[in-house]
Amino acid sequence: MSKMQKFFIQTFGCQMNVYDGQRIAAMLEKHGLTQTDEISDADLIILNTCSVREKATNKVYSALGRIRCAKKESALFGIVGCVARESGADAFKRIPELNFVLGPQSYHKLPEIITNPESRLLNIDLTGLEKFDELPQMNKSPLVAYIPVQEGCNHCCTYCIVPYTRGREISRPFNDIVADTINAAKTGAIEICFLGQNVNGYKYTDENGKLYRLSDLIKEAAKLPEIHRIRFTSSYPTEMSDDLIEIFGNEEKLLPFLNMPIQSGSPRTLKRMNRPDDLSIYRNIVSKLKSVRPDIQISSDFIVGFPDETEEDFTETLNIAKEIKYINSYSFKYSPRPHTAAAIMPNQISEQIKSVRLQKLDAQLNENQREFNMSCIGQEMVCLLEGIDKTKRHLVFRTQYMQQCIVEKPDYEIEPLQKIKITDANKASLRGEIIK
Ligand code: SAH
Ligand code: F3S
Repeated sequence: MSKMQKFFIQTFGCQMNVYDGQRIAAMLEKHGLTQTDEISDADLIILNTCSVREKATNKVYSALGRIRCAKKESALFGIVGCVARESGADAFKRIPELNFVLGPQSYHKLPEIITNPESRLLNIDLTGLEKFDELPQMNKSPLVAYIPVQEGCNHCCTYCIVPYTRGREISRPFNDIVADTINAAKTGAIEICFLGQNVNGYKYTDENGKLYRLSDLIKEAAKLPEIHRIRFTSSYPTEMSDDLIEIFGNEEKLLPFLNMPIQSGSPRTLKRMNRPDDLSIYRNIVSKLKSVRPDIQISSDFIVGFPDETEEDFTETLNIAKEIKYINSYSFKYSPRPHTAAAIMPNQISEQIKSVRLQKLDAQLNENQREFNMSCIGQEMVCLLEGIDKTKRHLVFRTQYMQQCIVEKPDYEIEPLQKIKITDANKASLRGEIIK
């Protein structure tokens, strides 16, 4: 077998996967491989996968089918991440040529396939924090650095496969996260996004018994002069502790934007989802946040067509979306997943009804977004550069609310953080002019 030289990696799914993908790439580079964008050129092909909805899993298997035809005969290929954990050894049955199947906490085992390419590698154990210790740091950060603070989730929402794929909650040591944050700042990051499946559940007690929470991480990050913007995702409602709410009022670098999924506006559905089912919990958090940070906006994830969801239940979802005026939200059709309780609940809803409800909810969410975007016209917003559009004539920025803001590319050099006057808006984005 000739020496392995090039690897190809494709990442699906959440920001945690994007982060994992970057660390895997750094690890392979440390082993002397270089990254390629061409499957046909690669000696090692990795799909870094997501299994949160059935569609996501299917996407991975159809990509594997394509890769099987396009790859070099000698190339090794496999899956890592949540589909690997969901499928386990079955993945080898579905795609017999697969060389490795590694769960979300076993990426650091990947080099074993380089040293021992003849044998198959299967590891879907939940090994805890080992991978964070073993994967090397990146030596150049993007403008936005995503830093995981905890992994896994103890909440067990009945529709969700994440507690199975990512395991029980485990928080990283405070000092390790601070070190990652400093490294990100020194290597070019301007914005820090703390990540976790249950990010506001972060809790770490050090050897002296001192307890650290997410608010402590935010305070540390805010001390760094290179860092101008801080955010975190995804939050669980009952973990919005007072220290975290307060810090929205005390720390200007923390963006006035919070992703805190409600999923449904129906207490009956929320109860069967095993989520907090008293809507006053959500309302109280929003009102407390608004009292310390009047300009705050909230985003949510929604699921429509959960088993036994009635028209009345669904109407309550529409109502709460309108009442709280959620912006930048995600909406999904319920998808039954293996290893979850909801998959075997009676009264599963038809695809057709799910589609109609999704359309109605999206219309409401779009209206919220359009209204909010229009209200920004005339304002000056400090925005972070994200990239350049296809025409090469426009720059794309992100506002503090994660709205896309498009400006004409000036003929002079600009800084990544710019004050922009908003001149126009629609439901998808803002338009603006750089204020010199
Ligand atoms: N708190 C987690 C949520 C993970 S899943 C995190 O951000 O890491 C992201 C979103 O996918 C959920 O908020 C939920 O709206 C949606 N989702 C999860 N399981 C689903 C399922 N079985 N069907 C449809 N949507 C689902
Ligand atoms: Fe999933 Fe619910 Fe946790 S959505 S990740 S089980 S909070």
